[in-house]
Amino acid sequence: MLELRDLVKRYRVGEGEPIRAVDGVSLNVGNGELLALYGPSGSGKSTLLDLVAALLKPDSGEVLFDGLEISALSEEGAARYRLHDLGFVSQQADLLPGALVIENAALKLWLSDPRRAQARVRPLLERLGLGDRLKQRAEQLSAGERQRLTIALALSTDPRLVLADEPTGSLDSKRGREVLGLLREVCKERGVAMLLATHDPQAAAFADRVFELRDGRLRPYEPAAVAPGARAVGGAGAVGVAGSAGPAGVAGSARAAAGAS
Ligand SMILES: Nc1ncnc2c1ncn2[C@@H]1O[C@H](COP(=O)(O)OP(=O)(O)OP(=O)(O)O)[C@@H](O)[C@H]1O
Ligand SMILES: [Mg+2]
Repeated sequence: MLELRDLVKRYRVGEGEPIRAVDGVSLNVGNGELLALYGPSGSGKSTLLDLVAALLKPDSGEVLFDGLEISALSEEGAARYRLHDLGFVSQQADLLPGALVIENAALKLWLSDPRRAQARVRPLLERLGLGDRLKQRAEQLSAGERQRLTIALALSTDPRLVLADEPTGSLDSKRGREVLGLLREVCKERGVAMLLATHDPQAAAFADRVFELRDGRLRPYEPAAVAPGARAVGGAGAVGVAGSAGPAGVAGSARAAAGAS
C-alpha cells in the first residue's frame, strides 16, 4: 500500500554541511500493517512522516501510495490525499477548544457532509469509550480522553493509513499503554495501516514490525543485548531495550498489559 524508495531529505542551515534528516530510507507497508519508527530525538522521525504526508517534498526518492507518486501531486491533490487517505494522531491532541467532543470528532467530515458528520463519528466515539462524553467540551476531557478523541478524528474519514507522531508523549505510561492498545485494536478492526513514530521502545512494541531510525537511516530494530549482571533501570525505556524477548515478545506483553487480544 505504501512504498518508500530511497527517500532523502536534507535541511540546509547556514554555510555548513546540510543535515541529512532522512538519508536513503526504503520501506514497504502492507494494508492494515502497524509499523513503528523508533529513534531518539532528531533521528528524522517527524521528517519521514511529513514526507509521507506530502507536507515536505523529498530531495530524491519516491513515496508511492497505491502506486501513485505522492510528491508529484498538486497542492490540491496533496490536500485531498491528506483529508481522505490519511489520519493524523500527534502528541498535542490538537482539538478545537469550546467545541463539543462530537463536534471535534466530526471536524474532517464537516467539509464533505455536514449533515451526517456527527452521526458517522458517534459509533467510533462509543467504540473509544467516549460515548457518554459527546456533549462535553473538548477541554473538559482528561489527557488520555483527549488523545482518544484525536484517534476518532483521525479515523473519521476511514483513512487507509494513520500517521502517529509520539501519540502518547504527553501521557503517563499506564494511560499511554491504554491509548496505544486501543489505537492498535481499532486500526486492526478497520484494516487501517499505521506508521508510529516514537522514542519509547514500549510504544514501539505495539507495532507488528519495528524499525530503528538513527541519523536518518532505517534498519530493523534489534534490542541491545544486556551485559551480564546489568539491570534494566530508568523506567519504560530501559525495559524495552533491555528485554531479551525482542520486539515481538515485548509487543505481546505490552498488548497483554493494555488488555488487547
Ligand atoms: N525545518 C528544519 N530546518 C532545519 N533542520 C531541521 C528542520 N526540521 C528538522 N530539522 C533537523 O532534522 C533532523 C531530524 O529532525 P526530526 O524533527 O525529523 O527528528 P525527530 O526524530 O522527529 O525528533 P523528535 O523526537 O525530537 O521529534 C534534526 O537534526 C533536526 O534538527
Ligand atoms: Mg519529531
